[in-house]
Amino acid sequence: MSIADFTFARLPEIHFGPGKLSLLPRLIARYGTSVLLVTGSASFARSASYARLTGELARSGIRLLHCSVAGEPSPGFVDATVARHRGAGIGCVAGIGGGSVLDAGKAIAAMLPQEGSVEPFLECVDTRKHDGRKVPYIAVPTSAGTGAEATKNAVLSSIGPDGYKSSLRHDNFVPDVALVDPELALSCPPDVTAACGLDALTQLLEAYVSNKASPMTDALALDGLGHVAAGFLRAYENGGGDLAARGHMAYAALLSGVVLANAGLGVVHGFAGPIGGFFPMPHGVVCGTLLGAATRLNIEALRRDAAGHRVALEKYARAGALLAGEPAAGTDAGCDLLVRTLDRWIAATGIARLSAYGVTRDDFPRLLDRANNKNSPVTLDREEMQAILAARL
Ligand SMILES: [Fe+2]
Repeated sequence: MSIADFTFARLPEIHFGPGKLSLLPRLIARYGTSVLLVTGSASFARSASYARLTGELARSGIRLLHCSVAGEPSPGFVDATVARHRGAGIGCVAGIGGGSVLDAGKAIAAMLPQEGSVEPFLECVDTRKHDGRKVPYIAVPTSAGTGAEATKNAVLSSIGPDGYKSSLRHDNFVPDVALVDPELALSCPPDVTAACGLDALTQLLEAYVSNKASPMTDALALDGLGHVAAGFLRAYENGGGDLAARGHMAYAALLSGVVLANAGLGVVHGFAGPIGGFFPMPHGVVCGTLLGAATRLNIEALRRDAAGHRVALEKYARAGALLAGEPAAGTDAGCDLLVRTLDRWIAATGIARLSAYGVTRDDFPRLLDRANNKNSPVTLDREEMQAILAARL
């Protein structure tokens, strides 16, 4: 079998392992004497690690500017932060937190050398083209989820009746450095661990079966799924005491960012934009709640023309065999195992349904109008798309 053409985007410089946060002051110093630290509003900024980090930066003569982001970043938040710090001679931006924090830092780093608001650069507006100039960016994830430490886009949200989620995207926005320290996730609560882990799993699975997948993304996605199998339930059940499980999930999340940047995503992420724009439902919860139903509907659609979709069905089966720990499963059994395992994990972690965040059946038409199949291996029709929402209402 010949290898089809593909391209692979750049990777950040990656430092992975427990305790690697201690490298951060040295990495910041590489870019000058002034850093803008972006954190979440609560956890990390109150931790002993933060106190140690700020103390070390002060001893190294590095000027520390700080901003915190509450929830998912909006264009207004990015504009206000950039306006406050533009012209301050910031050598680099360091984002330390979950996916929202990493995306906020990525967008701020991208906008510091630019004039005006971020909104015209967003994909949903697209009236200005970004030239790729940015301030160097160091991404430090504290929850194993979006893989934003390895992606080239920052998702910004404007939530409400006319809400949207849209990306600021450029190849240069891949972080310069990804510092992945699994110790930072030890304090992540079980519900966040579950939602973030299911986001990473969704990204790995959607990129693995994507119609844009390449041999390189396949290898990384499959490896990532193996680490999810090893760490997901352990990190959920004993997240504070199982550093090895946190390591499996941190690595899986990193790989999920690499593969989504290079192979794209599927129907679950095709729903995530509109649902997250209209309703205050965290991205990981949207993905986690829809993943089982979307995978079942995808496999049913693929099986209607099994001969034409042999590769995608074999991939789903391989993922199912891996997640369920039954490597000998064949194509049919593996696909069934995948759906059963996802349903079991989603039930075990009690991921919220759509209605918990205010979604009703009346909202389906406007969600379906804006949803899409992205790079899914099979195109679901409107009725099948609606069945995914109905299954998780
Ligand atoms: Fe995601």
